[in-house]
Amino acid sequence: MKALVLAGGSGTRLRPFSYSMPKQLIPIANTPVLVHVLRNLRELGVTEAGVIVGNRGPEISAVLGDGAEFGMRVTYIPQDAPRGLAHTVAITRDFLCDDDFVMYLGDNMLPDGVVDMRGGIHRPSAGGQVVVYKVPDPRSFGVAELGPQGEVLRLVEKPRDPRSDMALVGVYFFTAAIHDAVAAIEPSARGELEITDAIQWLVSSGADVRASQYDGYWKDTGNVEDVLECNRHLLDGLGARMDGTVDAASVLTGEVVIEPGAKVVRSRIMGAAIIGAGTVVQDSHVGPHASIGRRCTVTDSRVENSIALDEASVTGVRGLRNSLIGRSASVGGTGQENERYRLVVGDHTRVEVAA
Ligand code: DAU
Repeated sequence: MKALVLAGGSGTRLRPFSYSMPKQLIPIANTPVLVHVLRNLRELGVTEAGVIVGNRGPEISAVLGDGAEFGMRVTYIPQDAPRGLAHTVAITRDFLCDDDFVMYLGDNMLPDGVVDMRGGIHRPSAGGQVVVYKVPDPRSFGVAELGPQGEVLRLVEKPRDPRSDMALVGVYFFTAAIHDAVAAIEPSARGELEITDAIQWLVSSGADVRASQYDGYWKDTGNVEDVLECNRHLLDGLGARMDGTVDAASVLTGEVVIEPGAKVVRSRIMGAAIIGAGTVVQDSHVGPHASIGRRCTVTDSRVENSIALDEASVTGVRGLRNSLIGRSASVGGTGQENERYRLVVGDHTRVEVAA
């Protein structure tokens, strides 16, 4: 089975981040979302992936390369504009041939893996298999109405008045039947060829489309809150590892990962937390739930429930929480106690907070 991984799109909900980096490369527990995606696909037995890229293709290929590092062969397929999930299927017809394939949205995090999801794709009449997840408010997702055996009866993309609480997870299993469906549908009101409409077309034309309910952890990392929540979840399962140096005046509690070449000096790191390779933490409190990227500096600061990307620096900020700090960004403060800041700072940005 091949995979189609979607890493195009515009990422508007993750601005300012998505101005400077594709949202699919945002690190969760110091590993880009797309790398988590490829690892899950490999675990599923997939060795050939087509990766849809928009205008950020070079950044994505710099991270994934030819896929060999993940035991895969990766082919990049450019999409001229974000014309919809079903449009990506149409432009990869030659890559997919008539094979079964799994379509995986490159911003979906499923840290418990997707192996158990693969369902009835081998039944002769199977039009496909979607994965659903019960959510309290499904209005920002595709929503499925299901029959008693898990058969899909109706699908609607981001309905205002959802008729079910079953959201579509961004992992879909298709047979070649999807190609006729994609060719038959028209763009939606938002101007996109919706995969939800293509699957609905299959259902309406009598194909047997099933849903399996996912019971692991799922997050669409579409906005900052979801990225931070997912980061907390992953850090909590990461365990402890010490590959850097921690001086005698520092204290580590809980599950802390110190990557190679990182240095902790006169500081307290409260797990779950990860300190990236080559980073220096000095006179600071980091964690819980902080992911500090590679070659960062954290000095005279407190950082909690936050992500700092590679080469970021935080100095004299005693209450940085729920924040996302971009690559090579610098955040400076006065070192005063009991200040609370929540910042979303894009790459190469300089912010000074003053009490
Ligand atoms: O996360 C699950 C949801 O994903 C489903 O419940 C919805 O039914 C499905 O339509 C999708 O909704 P989103 O609004 O979250 O899709 P988004 O525009 O964020 O795109 C998902 C991924 O696909 C993302 O990595 C960007 C990429 N993409 C998107 C479009 C529209 C492309 O590569 N090309 C595109 O044309």
